[in-house]
Amino acid sequence: MAAPAVATSELILAPEQEVDTPCLVVDEGILRRNIERMAEFARGAGVGLRPHIKTHKTPEIARMQLAAGAVGITCAKVGEAEVMAEQAGVDDVLVAYPTVGEPKIRRILALLERARVVVAVDSTAAAEALSAAMKRHGRTLEVCIEVNTGQNRSGALAGDESVAFALTVARLPGLHMVGIMTHEGQANSAPPDEIETVALAAGRTMVEIAERIRGHSVELPMVSVGSTPASHYTPTVPGITEMRPGTYVFNDSSAFQYGRLGVGDCAARFVATVVSRPAPDRAVLDTGSKSLAMDPGKAHPGHGYIVGHPEAIISKLSEEHGVVTLPAGEEGFAVGDRVEVIPNHVCPTVNLMDDLFIARDGRLVDTWRIAARGKVR
Ligand SMILES: Cc1ncc(COP(=O)(O)O)c(C=O)c1O
Repeated sequence: MAAPAVATSELILAPEQEVDTPCLVVDEGILRRNIERMAEFARGAGVGLRPHIKTHKTPEIARMQLAAGAVGITCAKVGEAEVMAEQAGVDDVLVAYPTVGEPKIRRILALLERARVVVAVDSTAAAEALSAAMKRHGRTLEVCIEVNTGQNRSGALAGDESVAFALTVARLPGLHMVGIMTHEGQANSAPPDEIETVALAAGRTMVEIAERIRGHSVELPMVSVGSTPASHYTPTVPGITEMRPGTYVFNDSSAFQYGRLGVGDCAARFVATVVSRPAPDRAVLDTGSKSLAMDPGKAHPGHGYIVGHPEAIISKLSEEHGVVTLPAGEEGFAVGDRVEVIPNHVCPTVNLMDDLFIARDGRLVDTWRIAARGKVR
């Protein structure tokens, strides 16, 4: 194989390390540093760190986060929580997603046997169904109210609506309301120079709502926010008790827009091989939409950032082909050459893979099963 035309220090896999591609390789050193940095930040801000595991879905990484001081984990789906309780020994889980329907409620009841579980609610219908089931089984379930602070996805609208909803939930038998949570995703989509202002506004809104609810003699220990891009801002608002970033473990090309993080902070890369060079300005990688998620790049054109080749653009993906448009004279794209691609959005990319290949100092040292991959129920 020809030597790559980039400084090997930017690559996480040494060129002489053989590997079958495409595969998702994680640099253990960058991963550990990302985990430690966020844990350190949370300690400094005086908030609990409850990482969202949807990014990695991997028990080994959940264990690393807990060992670094995480108070528990966040997940979206009950299936993710089940895997983490069984395989990572996680005993404190926030299901930060509207949990609706009897099959899921039965699984929550089973999960309560092995872990503390807090479930987010944003509708009276879901809260009443949980309440009825808990009453039937003589159990109490901790719940928190999901608040929409501006992302306009799920969540009770910030202000009067969320306060009134919280007071309704607080009265339901079988439920114990412990807090409020938001995903301040609107900060992530704000222009980079506005992210701080938008994130701080979301944090202040949350603290204000919590105070209003407490004013009705409801204890509310948890005020939880969560986003990697906003992670250095929202949790600094006095009164926030918990942060739930997820993407920070790996980072991806979307982080480049903020200027704080670069290639060296991206732990997870697709290692791909050039399988065709049909034209001087076109190469084809063996990573298509069945391995690299389709999300558009926020900070870089195309379907991912090719390390060391910022001008080479992955312009088109079909299922197994990643078509790269090359500038004149670009080296390193002969058939058989290998590149590292930083995904635009690492979370859905991980969900497409079975395993993470772990690299240390450029060598493959381990394989970790992405045990919660595909757990969308
Ligand atoms: C409810 C919730 N909390 C936390 C997060 C973590 O955000 P990020 O992926 O920016 O780290 C997400 C991300 O989608 C989320 O939906």
